[in-house]
Amino acid sequence: MPVGVFDSGLGGLSVLGEIRRLLPDESLIYVADSAYVPYGEKTAEQIIERSIQISGFLLDQGVKALVVACNTATAAAIQTLRERWPELILVGMEPAVKPAAARSASGRIGVLATTGTLRSAKFAALLERYSAQVQVFTQPCPGLVERIEAGELHSAATRELLAGYVQPLLDAGCDSLILGCTHYPFIRPLLREMVGEDVAIIDTGAAVARRLQQLLSEQALLADAPGGEIMYTTGSVAAMQQALPALWSAPVEVRELFV
Ligand code: SIN
Repeated sequence: MPVGVFDSGLGGLSVLGEIRRLLPDESLIYVADSAYVPYGEKTAEQIIERSIQISGFLLDQGVKALVVACNTATAAAIQTLRERWPELILVGMEPAVKPAAARSASGRIGVLATTGTLRSAKFAALLERYSAQVQVFTQPCPGLVERIEAGELHSAATRELLAGYVQPLLDAGCDSLILGCTHYPFIRPLLREMVGEDVAIIDTGAAVARRLQQLLSEQALLADAPGGEIMYTTGSVAAMQQALPALWSAPVEVRELFV
């Protein structure tokens, strides 16, 4: 039985990569909801609707677990998905405030995320949990997901956009920056160039892969023969195939999905 993973677009491939590294035997089905990217600027109702449609498709494929590889979709929809499919192994994203708070010397951490994630009740509850421990500075990053989807991981335009988002966090004295969107790990090298070695850059992809491993293991559902990947897009197959070499190391079949 495969594991299903979905995102608004290609960003969830950063999480898929961590799952593949940790769990080489799992068969993975990835859905990029590229017809609706970015989720970050959509309403919670729209994101819930899309998340139900895609999860339903993945369940029809017989998945044994589902990873919502999107911070915005997790914030808006994971509760609804849990209520709808209470038996399903379901893993979502959460901006890595906990590890950042634990390692920050300045007590000031920055969160880069979409508008949708930052305005969610789930994120507000997360901030509340750590408010006594650290000062959290949030920065919505409109336009960044679109640049990454376009494969512009190092372009001058991406650099300029990112610099505008990062500088206020550095000026505020943040010594840790949280990548609160699964697209952003793909511009980690650019961000590293910008902030130097003294600022920590933290994301949750590897932790999500470990959580998936733990849940599969508890239910004796770990696979034991080498698995492959199938990818679906609700957008253009040609565009996804063109973008993939920069984001995924092996050749993979991409199929069209209408949901
Ligand atoms: C988006 O679609 O706007 C970004 C997805 C994410 O928050 O990870």
